[in-house]
Amino acid sequence: MAQSLQSHRKDEHVFLAEKYFQAEASAGFDQVRFIHNPLPETAVAAVDLTPGLFGWRWPFFINAMTGGSAQTGRYSEALATIAKHCGLAMATGSQSVALAEPALAETFARARTANPKGFMIGNLGADKTLAQAQTAVAMLQADALELHLNAVQETVMPEGDADFHWAESIQAIVVGLDQPVIVKEVGFGMNREALAKLRTLGVQYVDLGGRGGTNFALIEGARRQDQAFADLADFGQTTVESLLEAQGSELTLLATGGIRTPLDVLKALRLGASAVGISGLVLHWLIQEGQAAAEAHLQAWQTTLPKLMAMLGAQNLAALRQVPVVLSPALVSYTKQRNLP
Ligand code: FNR
Repeated sequence: MAQSLQSHRKDEHVFLAEKYFQAEASAGFDQVRFIHNPLPETAVAAVDLTPGLFGWRWPFFINAMTGGSAQTGRYSEALATIAKHCGLAMATGSQSVALAEPALAETFARARTANPKGFMIGNLGADKTLAQAQTAVAMLQADALELHLNAVQETVMPEGDADFHWAESIQAIVVGLDQPVIVKEVGFGMNREALAKLRTLGVQYVDLGGRGGTNFALIEGARRQDQAFADLADFGQTTVESLLEAQGSELTLLATGGIRTPLDVLKALRLGASAVGISGLVLHWLIQEGQAAAEAHLQAWQTTLPKLMAMLGAQNLAALRQVPVVLSPALVSYTKQRNLP
């Protein structure tokens, strides 16, 4: 069977995400400094990193990327195996393509086969119906479902949607689905107003999906013949700016976008995230170094995180939120101009 445009796009996304992968991200974490406490009065053995979210053991997870083509199905299986070996939760890429082409369901389901007991998150666009959301969950026996918001990506995509009415479908899915729903941006961040609106729709979990890592304006721009939207490459709120937008919100926050180091993870947790998603970096490790090396990198993070927590004098994530931080003048100006708390 010839590969459809939608399925081929999955291969292009992986290829282009890796082509444009930057070891140094620009998600704003360099603009946030922890204040060092030379008298931490804690020990690595006393650190508890459990996020208090979905029963996860670790406050970071592998976020949505793959499935939807034969090649990305193989990546999904590898990522699910890594997730299993590291005890991490994982999301698949958008399953919309498998709603249109049921033969592609297998490229998602193999993640579940590889990791039968792990916490698996499905993924769909926010324009879908409750019945479609239930199909996506069943395809993966998913424990939760991400609904992605990707207005910028659709705008730049040559074949993208032009209708962004999503509130009603989000509400229907949040109300009707048995599994928790995480509303997620794909790399352009969130603002305070949208977060407040999501709350009125009954949403509890939001992945801020900030700018500074994988950049779909760049990726979709590379798939176009023309450069019509080239100036959107810097568009959106960084992950740190999105976290600042979310201060004081009653939502349970996840933060993804440009996470490169364990210290980035802790800074995101400090600024209010309950868990942190990593996408491009894990894919980069997998493609460049293979599955065993990707696993070793993530296990090294699992060793490093408790050490950094102890160094900061934070025994758990609640204590981490009390560790003082200093923001760069640019971030202070951002919070002032946006009237953020
Ligand atoms: C993604 N991302 C993504 N997000 C989503 O909600 N549905 C999807 O189908 C995809 N597909 C996808 C493919 C590839 C190849 C990449 C690299 C990423 C976005 C992803 O989940 C994450 O929000 C961003 O990549 C930002 O995180 P990083 O990559 O900077 O860690």
